[in-house]
Formats: sequence, C-alpha cells, structure tokens
Amino acid sequence: MRQAGRYQPSYRELRQQHNFMDLATNPELCVEVSCRPVEDLGVDAAILFSDIMVPLAPMGIEFTIKESVGPVIANPVATMHDVLALAPVTPERDLPYVLDAIDGIVTRLGPTPLIGFAGGPFTLASYMVEGGPSKNYLHTKHLMWNEPETWSALMDALVDVVSAHLIAQIKAGASAVQVFDSWVGSLAPQDYEAGVLPYMAEIFRRLEPLGVPRIYFGVGTGSLLELMVSAGPDVLGVDWRVPMAAVRGRIGPKIALQGNLDPVRVTAGYDAVVESTRNLLAVMRQDPAYIFNLGHGVLPMTDPHVLKQVVDLVHREGRRRDAL
Ligand code: CP3
Repeated sequence: MRQAGRYQPSYRELRQQHNFMDLATNPELCVEVSCRPVEDLGVDAAILFSDIMVPLAPMGIEFTIKESVGPVIANPVATMHDVLALAPVTPERDLPYVLDAIDGIVTRLGPTPLIGFAGGPFTLASYMVEGGPSKNYLHTKHLMWNEPETWSALMDALVDVVSAHLIAQIKAGASAVQVFDSWVGSLAPQDYEAGVLPYMAEIFRRLEPLGVPRIYFGVGTGSLLELMVSAGPDVLGVDWRVPMAAVRGRIGPKIALQGNLDPVRVTAGYDAVVESTRNLLAVMRQDPAYIFNLGHGVLPMTDPHVLKQVVDLVHREGRRRDAL
C-alpha cells in the first residue's frame, strides 16, 4: 500500500520536476513509478500509481493534491444541483492515460500481477463534500442523514464511475482490483449499512463477471468487518487495530484476508519490525487464505532498506508449513 511514494529517493527526485498530477497523467512516468517498488523491493505485486481522486477530474471536480495534506477541492458538492451537474465518466475517453499506463506496466512486469484500484464511494464523497481531508466528516454525515435523496444520487453517480473505472482497468490488464474505502471507519455500523453497503455491494456485483479478485480495504473498520464482507469482496484488507486471527474467527473461512502490520513498525528499525512480522506470520501460518501486507500506506519516513528486509523476511519465513 503506497509502495510508491516519498520514502523512495527515486520518487522524491521525480517529484522535484513534476507535480503529483503530472506524474499520474503521464503514462511513461506512471509506468516508471509503478514498477520501481517491484524492482527495488521484490514485492509480489505492483499497484498502479494513481490516486483515488483521478477519476473525479472528468466528473468536473477541480482538485489539487497538496503535499502532506492530501486532496483539496475547489468546488465541493453540497446540493442536489451540484450532484446533477457531475458528468458521467467513460474511462477509455476520459482517463486514457491510466489505461495506457496499465498496458505499459503489464508489459514491463511480465508475470508479476498488477493491482488496479479506485476509492470507495463513501471515501470519495467525503472529499467531494468536505472539500478536503476531514476529522469528523460533519458535512458528509449531515448530507447522508438530512438529504437522503441527494446522498443516494451522489452515491449512485460514484458507483457508476468507480465500477466503470475498475472494469476498464481490468480490461487493460489489471490482475486484481482494490477498493480503498479508507475513511469508512468513521461511520457507526448502522450508518454504514444504510448509507454505504448497498452501493459497495453494487460495485462488487458489477465486477463479478470479470472474474478477478476484488479486495476491499478501510481504516479503523473493526466494528464494520462483517458488514464489509457482506458487500461481497473476495479479499478483506484490514488495518493493524484488529488482531488478524480474531478477524478470521469473525468472518469465517469464505474470503481471503490481507494485512495488517502497523506501518509505524517499519519505521522503528529492523529488530523492532522483525519481531512483529514474525508474530503476524506465526499467527496466520495455518490460515487458509492470507496475504501479508501493511495495515495502511508506507510512511514517507520509512527506510527503504528496512522495507526490503521485511519483504525478504516474509518470503523466507512466510510460506505455510504444509506448502513447503
Ligand atoms: O503505491 C501505491 O499504493 C499506489 C498509489 C496510490 C496513491 N494514492 C499515490 C499517492 C494509492 C493506492 C492512493 C490511494 C489514495 N489516495 C487513498 C486510499 C489509500 C489510503 O492511503 O488510505 C487516499 C485516501 C488518497 C488521497 C490522498 N492522496 C492522500 C491522503 C494523499 C497523501 C497526502 C500526503 O502528502 O501525505 C494523497 C497524495 C498521494 N497519493 C501520494 C501518493 C504517493 C503522496 C505523494 C506526493 O505528494 O507526491
């Protein structure tokens, strides 16, 4: 997660010459940034270098990505009028640079799989309504509770964009897709169930015929995991706040689990990270379907050498005993 980013000297160098959206809309640079972590770290999959905000640009959302802050929107959404003004998105026409980048990445990586991604409708709506990152999601929750018709029109529009974007990414060569619903953990379970779950379930339904693994991830989702599974993903991504074995106990054997080393562990030095990684591998060793990952994005202050050592450790010690 965020395996491309500011912790890499090569990324920081590129960012001195190009702003974020220049990188994300230039297929050649995007191929370079997406492939470098695979080549440098030896991870088992690439993730497309892009951002959850990218498909909102052709909808008419004007944003910049502000360093150390995140997306900032010039024209936040507040009313039904604003929602009706959002343009539909045809990825092949409106986001060709993403699909060209996928083509280039898949060619360069050969057998290494590429994970495509999009933001979840709630997480995207939170940026669109708040106008940027938020602590309490006040305006978003008010809209959900007080203007249910506007909320459902906004979520319907986002379901269309997210589904079309993910389907286009799969057709362009992505081997799996991940929906980042990063901020959905701000919701009480009953609000998730009423205001988000039906839309997420529709996205996974539309993706099902394409036959690739669908990963669903959010931050701080300890109280939502069963509901998130009921949306229908193939893989559930979880952060470090929930013990992995307990998650398996709660959701049963039907879908795969991905996570959940605290990204701060990787900044605490090699000895500190080794113990926690080994503990996680030990707990999940007999699990029927477990994918090692961090519980959220790699932090900018992470030492790339330590990250590489974690990858090597997982490769050395992470195989299931009965698979050796
Ligand atoms: O390597 C990868 O994981 C793929 C690339 C990727 C980026 N953003 C690149 C990026 C992915 C998968 C995302 C998803 C994304 N973007 C999410 C969901 C995942 C998560 O972290 O919860 C969210 C919430 C966003 C919105 C966003 N964009 C944020 C919060 C930030 C960070 C702001 C900061 O500077 O700390 C961004 C900018 C961004 N997107 C960076 C990267 C590498 C930072 C780099 C930069 O400024 O050049």
